[in-house]
Amino acid sequence: MAKEVVLSGIRPTGFLHLGNYFGAMRNYVRMQDEYNCYFFVANWHSLTTHPNTAELQLSVHRVIAENIACGLNPEKVALYVQSDVPEIAELYLYLNMLAYKGELEKTASFKEKVRLNPENVNAGLLTYPVLMASDILIHRAVKVPVGKDQEQHLEMARNFAQRFNYRYGNVFPEPYAFNYGGELIKILSLDGNGKMSKSENQMATLYLADDDDTIKKKIMKAKTDGGPTEPNSDMPDYIKNIFTLMKQVSTADTVKKFEDDFNNSSTGNVIIRYGDMKKQLAEDMISFIKPIREKAADIQNNKELLFKIITQGADKARASATNTLQEVRKAMRMIY
Ligand code: TYM
Repeated sequence: MAKEVVLSGIRPTGFLHLGNYFGAMRNYVRMQDEYNCYFFVANWHSLTTHPNTAELQLSVHRVIAENIACGLNPEKVALYVQSDVPEIAELYLYLNMLAYKGELEKTASFKEKVRLNPENVNAGLLTYPVLMASDILIHRAVKVPVGKDQEQHLEMARNFAQRFNYRYGNVFPEPYAFNYGGELIKILSLDGNGKMSKSENQMATLYLADDDDTIKKKIMKAKTDGGPTEPNSDMPDYIKNIFTLMKQVSTADTVKKFEDDFNNSSTGNVIIRYGDMKKQLAEDMISFIKPIREKAADIQNNKELLFKIITQGADKARASATNTLQEVRKAMRMIY
């Protein structure tokens, strides 16, 4: 039986962080052995908010290098750059005719970006979810490993796929957001203000390129409080986030010790020591990030290797994209 198709992408708008890793990339690495995988750098998407391309090549190379350093094997998957696959743009054009202005204006990510940058509300920003649907549908992917923030975009991709199929005939399967644990992940920023993000709030974001001292400094500054007021309290979001990070990089015994300390704490009897917890987390995080940082830097400096990987990825992706586009044109009776 043919393997199911998986696709996901990352925008090259800054340094990759733990949200990207735990929300998405960690799944890519696991999925590469089980599925037919396509992973790409969404450089067209980055133009919707970052029109200056002076640093774009460097960022694209860094995203590729960091993905490989995290364990992606370019021999097993198609690892490519979006603009190397022009077939995506043709599908984007067709899907744009099936997407309505009203629904695009209601998208949460669009509204947020308009709020953040009212000077640059361009048509690409409005049709961002259509381009994302084209990325997915061009390979007829069914599983899309992403973080929680992409859920609405996946719902829209399903709508566009259904509309296409209804109007022109069954070409596309319906894609779903995927995480091995079931629930999609959202890593919060270390100061507890919103999600970790590539370009905002850098002191509260842990990057895969951070050096050991910086990692330690950022973790020690993470928001905590005076401790729970009664045993077995609900955790505030910012404390839960520290536990979430700890679960990714520390041993189960370590996590259990601090969970027990939290659950047994109450006013006047605070057992959990957040300072100790953060110190432990910093140590384990450094052991986790350091090898990734070093390997990524090596790959990023090897331009010949990067060129080979990117060319090979584009060839694999274009083979699949051309195939789908032929089906699309046939379904739309656009063969003359
Ligand atoms: P991007 O570049 O913002 O993020 C890349 C991946 O990282 C996940 N992520 C997070 N997960 C958990 N917690 C966080 N704080 C966090 N921050 C980011 C994102 O959910 C994403 O999976 N629109 C996409 C790029 C894209 C794409 C696609 C993805 C373009 N076309 C097709 C999937 C399929 C984006 O901006 O991701």
